[in-house]
Amino acid sequence: MSYFRENIQATSGYIPGEQPKNPDIIKLNTNENPYPPSAKSVEALHSYVIDNLRKYPEPVSQPVKEAAAKVLGVDTQEVLVGNGSDDILTVIFRSFAGEQDTIGWLNPSYSLYPILAEIQGANQRFVELDENFELPTDLAEQAKGCSLFLITNPNAPTTNSFCKEKIREFCKSFEGIVVIDEAYGDFAETNCLELYKEFPNVIVTRTFSKSYSLAGIRVGMAFANKELTAGMHKVKDSYNVNALSQTMAAAALLDVDYFEETINKIKATRARTEAELTKLGFKVNPSQTNFVFAIPPIDAAEYFQALNDRNIIIRYFKGGRTGKYVRITIGTDEEMDKFFAATKEILT
Ligand SMILES: Cc1ncc(COP(=O)(O)O)c(C=O)c1O
Repeated sequence: MSYFRENIQATSGYIPGEQPKNPDIIKLNTNENPYPPSAKSVEALHSYVIDNLRKYPEPVSQPVKEAAAKVLGVDTQEVLVGNGSDDILTVIFRSFAGEQDTIGWLNPSYSLYPILAEIQGANQRFVELDENFELPTDLAEQAKGCSLFLITNPNAPTTNSFCKEKIREFCKSFEGIVVIDEAYGDFAETNCLELYKEFPNVIVTRTFSKSYSLAGIRVGMAFANKELTAGMHKVKDSYNVNALSQTMAAAALLDVDYFEETINKIKATRARTEAELTKLGFKVNPSQTNFVFAIPPIDAAEYFQALNDRNIIIRYFKGGRTGKYVRITIGTDEEMDKFFAATKEILT
């Protein structure tokens, strides 16, 4: 006998990527940014008046909203700030889907979605991407009846961006809420931020965990029209983002030069990684993210393990369509050099 609701009893819960204690490990497994956070954001943290920690933080993270308004050209009323974009996703699932509803997403994509749907006790619909991991031509048909549908763009773990026109068409015809999860949007050539202004049913989500090197402070944002953000504010925890995180996130957003410098470095290393792996016989999906998704020339599980034995950790999702692939986060050039050397050694 269990005290839990049946669906909580049944769910496995989300299994996060490993966070090893050994500092010598090269960690290419959770799509973190290899570069430090903006010096201006660190300075803002140091200037924070510690005595203020006696008080609750700003309840709606107004400083982050104001920074987003300046940098991204959004209205502060169109922003919801969360304790990471995972928190934002939780707020969205709780806001728009109950036990009678169906929540849909593309497959493969972010493995947290099914867990959040299980917690809600909602029905789940997996819409398979086509053989090139592109949107199926009958997406609208397949998503029909869902109250909430998630498009991860660019997609994880497959690394590709979907055609914006196709996403736009879908948003126009879909009757429920469309979430465009742009956790990796800053690494892509284009993004879909504008779509929340075009459609009353669109929410775009972003995070500070990847492009801003701030996974540890847990801040994410959602952009939607002010009716949707007002409703979601009723669902979020009263003080969902702590004061120190708000301070760092706002300063990081405003430090546009550093943001661009880091993104460009990662893109350059990404291009190098794609070329290097292709030379070594990998089949690499062209990436729009800060990681690559590739089929190694040997068994993917064995390759993953062989790297692990050499203190390099990447990610392997066994089974299904992902079992042939490995996912490798882009590290610094020095880290990637060690990763290439280890890969060569494993392959010979
Ligand atoms: C597609 C996608 N969305 C959202 C997240 C959550 O990011 P965070 O909660 O760190 O903001 C991740 C994290 O890896 C992700 O891959």
